[in-house]
Amino acid sequence: MNESFDVGPIRPRRLRRFAALRRLVAETRLHPADLVLPVFVKEGIGEPVPVDSMPGVVQHTRDSLRKAVHDAVEAGVGGVIVFGIPAHKDARGSAADDPNGIALQAVRDLRSEFADRIVVMTDLCLDEYTDHGHCGILRTDRFGASVVDNDATLQRYASIAVAQAEAGADVVAPSGMMDGQVAAIRSALDTAGFSDVAILAYSAKFASAFYGPFRDAAECAPQFGDRRGYQQDVANAREAIREIRLDLAQGADMVMVKPALGYLDIVRAVRDVVDVPLAAYQVSGEYAMVEAATARGWIDRRAVIEEILLGIRRAGADFVLTYWATEAARWSR
Ligand code: PBG
Repeated sequence: MNESFDVGPIRPRRLRRFAALRRLVAETRLHPADLVLPVFVKEGIGEPVPVDSMPGVVQHTRDSLRKAVHDAVEAGVGGVIVFGIPAHKDARGSAADDPNGIALQAVRDLRSEFADRIVVMTDLCLDEYTDHGHCGILRTDRFGASVVDNDATLQRYASIAVAQAEAGADVVAPSGMMDGQVAAIRSALDTAGFSDVAILAYSAKFASAFYGPFRDAAECAPQFGDRRGYQQDVANAREAIREIRLDLAQGADMVMVKPALGYLDIVRAVRDVVDVPLAAYQVSGEYAMVEAATARGWIDRRAVIEEILLGIRRAGADFVLTYWATEAARWSR
């Protein structure tokens, strides 16, 4: 058989011939500045403590954190987001807005060492600081159940926002999914003279099982119940758009979708309706799956990480929070 078929003049393979040509026509790229490194800093430890479920991630001391952020700055990483793990937790998460609390000390360290060479963000939530592990203040509802009190929690968030701004945060990132949290934080920041501090709202944060390893890293698993009463139902996409719109109306400067990989449809849908910067958080469970498969020799680690990060960017995220930020930044230079 030597019948020949007429392919016609259009041959997309022409532009796939060699690496430089593919690079020229690539629609999406990874750039170090589009990556944000989440970091954990723990009070009362002398050495960094590895997180078992996140190989390669540690709970930092203040010193080891400075070193890690130095490496991130050298690699060109765009930002760092700080999570604190206090030695003492209580029902109202008092350590969160204690100026001598571990996260705020770390923020001051980073500010004084790196000035404006990297964007310093703070996660603004209570779950790392409360003894019950929930993202807010508890009350008993009229049926006798313990629930997170939305409006009482807003007062705590307002106070934490001001404390984080005082410590030098450029961006505060409320992750508790309380109604009205962005407005409460904006108003508190403005009243305290911090109108220049930006809000990155974790607007569409789903009640995801992919946060499991993070809860080891941040020691914040809820002691009872779960977070479904405040985080979004995994089944809902329209609701994510509604949350995004509410946060923008309240003054969010940037919005986030979280997790990333299982929610690329949400990333795209949000990208299509907003004109503010959009972040996506590649969460702990996404990290752990790739590291676990790598440890078994089942995947090509670097190729898989780059493919996922590019996929998140292609879906429409302007920047990505990822535990691989420093390493991926080095690769992409
Ligand atoms: C809440 C917060 C969580 C994460 C970031 N901020 C945990 C949660 O909502 O249970 C998860 C991040 C990850 O899994 O990597 N402060």
